[in-house]
Amino acid sequence: MKTSRLFAFLLVTISLYLVYVLVDNYVVDPQAEQFLALKTGIDRVLNLPVWLNVMYVHVAFATIATASGAMNFSKYIRNRFRGFHRVNGYIYVVSVMLVVLTSGYMAPYSTGGKPVSVAYNMMNIVWPAFTVIAIMRIKKKDLVGHLRSMVRSYVFCFTNVFVHTMAFLAEQGLRLPHETSYTFGVFSAFALNLLIAELIIAIFYAPSRVANTSLYVKGEIQPQK
Ligand code: HEM
Repeated sequence: MKTSRLFAFLLVTISLYLVYVLVDNYVVDPQAEQFLALKTGIDRVLNLPVWLNVMYVHVAFATIATASGAMNFSKYIRNRFRGFHRVNGYIYVVSVMLVVLTSGYMAPYSTGGKPVSVAYNMMNIVWPAFTVIAIMRIKKKDLVGHLRSMVRSYVFCFTNVFVHTMAFLAEQGLRLPHETSYTFGVFSAFALNLLIAELIIAIFYAPSRVANTSLYVKGEIQPQK
């Protein structure tokens, strides 16, 4: 499959996923009853109205981060509409910070207790770190470094998919209890975020494929159509 076709396919898939996230969390189950009914292993009292409001903000900015991040991988937008790419990039950065902030509130109440809370908080450090590194790289006109760091950052937008998929596999496939499965889901999501990013970089941003890329930023060669 050509890269542009693969990108279009991914954009459609991501859009459908985001519609599902919004409908599921704001329309179908706005009280997060399905999720909260299975919540065990926490050693503090959860203030439901506050938790729900934080979760709404979390999901809203997670959706914005996922959408804006996806758009900024478009070579067409990057080359033709640099101003949009830049503003959209800052929208992504602010959204990541707000997802992380809300995640920081929810982490201590995580299903599975302390170990899961620690894993989420590690992601709360690593995700913004990759994002800030991506900005620093482009400030130094290192486009390849910027793209690679953005891949490392953007994969975290799929944390929730990985958590639930891996937890589902552990619960249904290995017949593990829900709390153990969720714990497994969160730790394996963290590992998958890191591994998948390196895989994407090795395939799409290998030295042979990006040899001249940084020269675009320096204006030494023209971008391809
Ligand atoms: C960007 C895509 C993301 C989406 C769409 C998303 C969505 C959600 C949703 C809907 C919930 C409520 C529970 C559920 O149904 O799973 C949730 C909980 C949570 N999310 Fe996210 N999330 C995302 C990324 C992240 C990231 C990257 C982190 C960590 C850095 C994070 C940390 C948390 C925490 C700590 C909870 C509470 C978990 C619990 O109570 O057990 N989320 N998220």
